[in-house]
Amino acid sequence: MKQKSELITRSWPAPAKLNLFLHINGQRLDGYHDLQTLFQLLDWGDDLVINVSDCGNITRSGNVDGIPESGDLCIAAARLLKSRCSIQYGVHIELNKRIPLGAGLGGGSSDAATVLVALNELWHCGLSIQQLAEMGLELGADVPLFVYGNSARAHGRGEQLQSVTLEEHYFVLVFPEIHISTAQVFQHPLLKRDSPVLSWSDLDMKPGRNDCEALLLNLYPVLQDMMRDLLNWGQPRISGTGSTIFLTFDTKKSAISAASELKCRYNVRAVGGVNRSPLPDRLSIKG
Ligand code: C5P
Repeated sequence: MKQKSELITRSWPAPAKLNLFLHINGQRLDGYHDLQTLFQLLDWGDDLVINVSDCGNITRSGNVDGIPESGDLCIAAARLLKSRCSIQYGVHIELNKRIPLGAGLGGGSSDAATVLVALNELWHCGLSIQQLAEMGLELGADVPLFVYGNSARAHGRGEQLQSVTLEEHYFVLVFPEIHISTAQVFQHPLLKRDSPVLSWSDLDMKPGRNDCEALLLNLYPVLQDMMRDLLNWGQPRISGTGSTIFLTFDTKKSAISAASELKCRYNVRAVGGVNRSPLPDRLSIKG
């Protein structure tokens, strides 16, 4: 048993992601879809203060309105790790949520990955990153991306990852007031799910088509209006299954300038792309 003095509090980052492109290649027998996508990690996201306790309870607080405890991937991640590793300790997770829910930015998955990576260290579970990624896949298809913490191209359900070094880009994220259920989009009969599988050498590692877009514009006419309006600032694209729309810029200055023009009509944020999440690097810092 560890001494209480070793039980430490620390803030851990949970970055957001964009799908720079998303091709859906077909539905599998297990109901999931095979896809090809390009994940870009962002220099912005949630923060979690993770406070290990020596009672066995797993609890949470923070700005978690709208996330029932039963549907909170942070709690699910902590419970999964605790039971697989037979851990006696507990934890209190304080979630500082900035990534909107149902936004296609991977917020819940990133929070869950951060809980797995952080508690693996704090609870001294001793699992490898690969073991954590496999465990994360049980929680959601995007969790392994955040466990490994590299911008990546992906196939399969989105868990077959190959790290990439993407060109430096900045983005303006535009948040419509819509929360979209990923499951509902993937289950929709009108979803385009017949894109041919392309060789990665034929795919540019930059923003491109999203196969969910036509369906989303059909289901949410407000997205159509916003996309049309945003054409004045560049080529708007939707991340994942929505609802976030993003514009891509080569310089920070141009992203910030577009965001300041857009902020009077939309809820926007200028962010930078990163090739590496700050999460794995945090592991070398001792409490
Ligand atoms: O894995 P995750 O829980 O994030 O996925 C949410 C839902 O989205 C799944 O239940 C599934 O219906 C759908 N999905 C899919 N194909 C994928 C990823 C997700 O059909 N590659």
